[in-house]
Amino acid sequence: NGGVGLSVTPIRVEQLNLSSILANFSPDMLTTHNWGRFKAALSVHKKKTGEQHALDFSWSCWKAKHFESEADLMLYVCLGVFFCYSVPDPAAARSVQSDDSGDAEKVYHECQQDGPVSFEDCIPPEQMKRCSKIGEGTFGEVFSTVNGSGQTVALKIIPVEGSQKVNGEPQKTFGEILHEIIISKELSSLDSNENNRTSGFIGLHCVRGCYPSALLKAWDKFDQEKESENDRPDFFGQEQLFVILEFEFGGSDLENMKGKLSSMAQARSVLHQVTAALAVAEQALCFEHRDLHWGNILVKTTKEKHNHFILNGSVYSVQTRGVHVNIIDYSLSRLEIGVFLTPLFMGQGDYQFEIYRLMKKENNNCWGEYNPHSNVLWLHYLVDKLLTMKYKTKVQSSQQKALKSSLRSFQSEILSYGSATEALLRCRLFQ
Ligand SMILES: Nc1ncnc2c1ncn2[C@@H]1O[C@H](COP(=O)(O)OP(=O)(O)O)[C@@H](O)[C@H]1O
Ligand SMILES: [Mg+2]
Repeated sequence: NGGVGLSVTPIRVEQLNLSSILANFSPDMLTTHNWGRFKAALSVHKKKTGEQHALDFSWSCWKAKHFESEADLMLYVCLGVFFCYSVPDPAAARSVQSDDSGDAEKVYHECQQDGPVSFEDCIPPEQMKRCSKIGEGTFGEVFSTVNGSGQTVALKIIPVEGSQKVNGEPQKTFGEILHEIIISKELSSLDSNENNRTSGFIGLHCVRGCYPSALLKAWDKFDQEKESENDRPDFFGQEQLFVILEFEFGGSDLENMKGKLSSMAQARSVLHQVTAALAVAEQALCFEHRDLHWGNILVKTTKEKHNHFILNGSVYSVQTRGVHVNIIDYSLSRLEIGVFLTPLFMGQGDYQFEIYRLMKKENNNCWGEYNPHSNVLWLHYLVDKLLTMKYKTKVQSSQQKALKSSLRSFQSEILSYGSATEALLRCRLFQ
């Protein structure tokens, strides 16, 4: 019937009313906001079952109506590809609505809550007292504490749905936040294979209310010590909603610990562990991180001599040299940047911003397609950072010098690999 097989999630099309979404869908709808909503309307996030179905509709008719150029069409097809790694979840399909209340419902469902609770109910006084601010991003503040199970956790607190700007940006919507929730869960579920190197996702909460004074106190302490770039979050009213993502505490980010890696041997281990984490996620999820600057690589000390991971069924071992590495922050992973967030490409002064431009050049601005070479670009960036960082011990011994020169060789060969997987399996540095 002239239908075309797009890799769109095959859920109960009638219930989703996908055809009506598609009928009203055009490239100029692709603002971040609408994209978040469109994606959330289709959001399903259980692990794939392996089967992919096709969605039939009158393709040529629809194409002519909505796309002026092949480029626009390609962009749309890219969006379709994204849904390859989503799968039907009948529960989600039943509650799917394409409006904001539907997105909110999905977030509450993920939180296993009926609606928002108070900060006090979410973070009991004992835990609240122990909160200290450990990091920040444009969209939120990150605090560490010890949770009810005695585990040290990182709480990423993100204001959502409000009309006040935060740190100069509009607040995220529930729809937009679903993206990060879904990817965090997917990557975290690789944990069951014991080969995961991302900070484990522990839970999700939604709260309503003003920012608690204990958190503001922790915020001020961080500001005094490290100078925050964010607005002091004291201006929120009683009605303000926050999503709180709870992660296993992953360590300090590389940007913060300038000079605290002890040696080149640790640097090599960092590089090896990041490459392995990317390779595993590439193989399992066709994953691209797309924003792996040094603020998103966490390092903590470990007593384990080796970390193990499984790639395509084979067990590999990496020497830790006393450090365990986690990668975090999936807010741009896979296809959220590019046409959607062009300001990202205007940054200057660090190789990091060049990487965004290189990714765009390499994929012709088509962000839906899987291009694992973007992970390789970030590895090139990482080795550059590791080579210019300060270390506790100066590179003096002949052994340290030899390691440094092997990192330099890695730097000159890495770009020729197609993916982190290929780099992991072929690079001399890791053999
Ligand atoms: N699981 C974690 N463990 C330890 N620190 C974390 C964790 N998650 C985030 N952080 C700290 O908070 C900072 C901001 O978190 P991130 O997820 O990168 O937010 P954003 O998306 O706003 O950049 C990170 O650079 C890091 O310093
Ligand atoms: Mg970040």
